[in-house]
Amino acid sequence: MTIANTGATGNTDSTDRAERAEQLRNDLADYIKGWGTFRTPRVEAAFRAVPRHLFLPDVPLEVAYGRKPVVTRRAADGTSVSSASSPKLVATMLEQLAVQPGQRVLEIGAATGINAALLAELVGPTGTVVTIELDDDLAASATESLEAAGYPHVEVICGDGALGHPDHAPYDRIIVTAEAWDIAPAWWDQLTVGGRIVVPLRLHGSGLTRAIAFDLHQPDRMVSTSAVVCGFVPMRGTTEHAEHHVRLTDDVVLKVDADDLPDHAALAQALTHPGQEHWTGIQVRHDEPAEHLDLWLLTTTASRFGRLSAGSQARTSGLADPAPRWGGAALYDAGAIAYLATRDINDETLELGVIVHGPDNTKLAAHATDLLTRWDSARPSQPTITANRANSTPRPNTAAAHIIRPHTAITVTW
Ligand SMILES: C[S@@+](CC[C@H](N)C(=O)[O-])C[C@H]1O[C@@H](n2cnc3c(N)ncnc32)[C@H](O)[C@@H]1O
Repeated sequence: MTIANTGATGNTDSTDRAERAEQLRNDLADYIKGWGTFRTPRVEAAFRAVPRHLFLPDVPLEVAYGRKPVVTRRAADGTSVSSASSPKLVATMLEQLAVQPGQRVLEIGAATGINAALLAELVGPTGTVVTIELDDDLAASATESLEAAGYPHVEVICGDGALGHPDHAPYDRIIVTAEAWDIAPAWWDQLTVGGRIVVPLRLHGSGLTRAIAFDLHQPDRMVSTSAVVCGFVPMRGTTEHAEHHVRLTDDVVLKVDADDLPDHAALAQALTHPGQEHWTGIQVRHDEPAEHLDLWLLTTTASRFGRLSAGSQARTSGLADPAPRWGGAALYDAGAIAYLATRDINDETLELGVIVHGPDNTKLAAHATDLLTRWDSARPSQPTITANRANSTPRPNTAAAHIIRPHTAITVTW
């Protein structure tokens, strides 16, 4: 009797749960659609098909179908090392990737397996999806979830994604779902000419990560078709790259490139000088596509670039209030620091300015405001990013900023 009752209730519960999941899945797809993120019906259909909750069995349905990333593993210091990425970002990157039915796709960073399932929907029954995960237990649970959700044909490999998976190469598409410092040699080798890779590439030691869609034009040359601001957990394993943080006060930190370390004491001293505000009169609407301004500053400045992060105490006390919209973009020299600041003009518009600290800051202040004036006259929206394999001959381009990585020379033009 007890057993029969439990069974009946269990069936009703699981039917209710499946219906609720479907409702939430469609709500999430509607939300992403509302942002205009879906550009092709197939990506939208994939989102309406993949049962995310089966890949996130330990969280409530509302969280599995929520709008935020779901962290599934943290390092001992609390930083996130694995997650189900933000659904809107996943949709954006799948649109960038432009997967076609029947294609061979390699994913780096399986995590829960959700994105691999979406890829399986996009390639259809005649395509191939291989996904690589560094952690063996995550790879095992992604395999189980993919089977349970009806995608047993997705191949999950446990290993270092920087090595790719030569057995099924070449691939028409590669998607990297952890932040990369370089385009690994295996990705160059295993992507077919004419194919596309989407990779969240960290363009500076301080951050500035862009999900870049690159088309492989020649075996040693890729050119971007789009670049989207994003944040990701970093790649671990052989291609790991540490961030370098310089603490200037208890709650003000300058993130810099490890190859370009500042005079710590001089910059900490600079911050003790009251900030001088230089408002430029340059107005930016909140909805304007100006998200690459920080990258523009990095690639045009003659000074050194970093990102200033200030805690609430520093902000409210007026010690440092960098513009969060551009990740605290800052320029610094031997004894002065200048950071991008904003103030509201009205509900729709803000004004750009620079706040400069340090005893001798005139030159840096003039340089920073001049850069903003130059940005304003061009208002470049999307950069073109070219990647040349490091052992190939870089193409000279005087209007380009060069970012050199062990295996790739990257140039950014506007
Ligand atoms: C943000 S999660 C991936 C999100 C996932 N694709 C999804 O469907 O939402 C990043 C994953 O990359 C994995 N990872 C990090 N370094 C890796 C590497 N070198 N090779 C393979 N996987 C790696 C992490 O363990 C983590 O699970």
